[in-house]
Amino acid sequence: MTVLDRGPRLEDVSLENDDFAKHVPHETFALLRREAPVWWYDWPLGRGYWCVTKHADVVAVSRDTKTFTSEQGANLEDLDEEQRAARQSMLETDPPRHTRLRGLVGPPFTPRAIKAYELVLRELTAAVLDRALPLREFDFIEEVAKQLPIRVLASLLGAPDEDTDRLIDWGDRMIGNTDPELADVLSDTPESEKYRMLPFRSPASLELFEYAHRIADERRGAPTDDLVSKLVNAEIDGERLTEREFDTMFLLLVVAGNETTRQAIAHGMLALAENRDQWRRLADDPELVWTAGADEILRWSSPVLHFRRTATRDVEVGGQKIVAGDKVVIWYVSANFDEEVFADPLRFDVGRRPNPHVTFGGGGPHFCLGAHLAKLEVQVMFDALLPRLADIELLGPAERMRTNFTNALKRMPVRVTEA
Ligand code: HEM
Repeated sequence: MTVLDRGPRLEDVSLENDDFAKHVPHETFALLRREAPVWWYDWPLGRGYWCVTKHADVVAVSRDTKTFTSEQGANLEDLDEEQRAARQSMLETDPPRHTRLRGLVGPPFTPRAIKAYELVLRELTAAVLDRALPLREFDFIEEVAKQLPIRVLASLLGAPDEDTDRLIDWGDRMIGNTDPELADVLSDTPESEKYRMLPFRSPASLELFEYAHRIADERRGAPTDDLVSKLVNAEIDGERLTEREFDTMFLLLVVAGNETTRQAIAHGMLALAENRDQWRRLADDPELVWTAGADEILRWSSPVLHFRRTATRDVEVGGQKIVAGDKVVIWYVSANFDEEVFADPLRFDVGRRPNPHVTFGGGGPHFCLGAHLAKLEVQVMFDALLPRLADIELLGPAERMRTNFTNALKRMPVRVTEA
């Protein structure tokens, strides 16, 4: 065997932002799952961490919040106590504090509440498509994938329609904090130190907080049935949310609800354009979007690539000893392609059943609050879009964001022919 014949090797594994700039490094994750499913990674930008790549281990870590705390941070960055206090959102809390916060924000996201929202989603989707499709040649991300999730979110939060562009811009600058085109200051460079107390080390978060305060002030005087009114007026154990809790909850919803669902829609369209047989299956049997297709799009797109926990005690995962204080990174994108759970995982199969993907997390208290909403958005979008599309042609490669946190497409130029 020559050097050229050798596949990727453990000592060469790199999971940095640049390693995701062209595509998700599926061969690297396959290697880790095969040879070192819980593997110590010497992270060049801070303290090293354990990479957890098998489906069963991602699920186990997600569900054990006593052993794997979220309070030390949910992203790779090492945070000191001052940063944690300033930046912590619900995502970075453990029960019982987490339980109280989640109880406050949860009611509009239950399956029943979301089902009742289906008609609104259908109307919003039709409006997005009525505007985009006649353009014939356009950026699918800009005109379609970005538009539905942000409109849905604005309507839930009670933000006026005319503010959606600004909300998109703030979200993009935060999630794009390692992409030179989108970041105000690259968060993986020393220049970002001056923003270390801000979520995502991004000044966009300050602008979003100011915006959130304006909406909150309006709702304090005149509550409506939107989520901001509930957040500013609600009490947990007789206490109101602090300003910091309100700010970080608002920010969490804007980022989580907007930057993720967009990617599921974008990757779903890309996968269907590249797999015409799968498109035909959905076109011939529209029910399949609802019963299996949306879940396969969610598995395939894995919009959130990872989150992080920190071990609170010495513990063994996948036969590997982890020491109290170690960072543990659960790679959802790897678990979603685990060949022990998904037959032929690199095949996009809109009829795949069962499909126990961990796109919304591996279970446990942090399981995505917006999972039912996001899945319904994907179902409604493709249910409406496919009958209206005779063809879609990619006019250039889909451009990826430089980040190892989300599986993000920035641009996808297309030409469509309406049915
Ligand atoms: C395809 C779209 C989406 C994906 C892939 C996604 C993914 C995730 C993941 C992986 C988590 C962490 C789960 C865990 O730690 O166990 C999460 C949490 C969360 N998501 Fe989503 N999400 C999506 C859509 C949404 C939407 C539409 C909303 C709200 C409008 C939302 C709001 C949240 C919130 C608030 C949390 C924190 C939950 C907690 O800490 O209790 N997400 N999401």
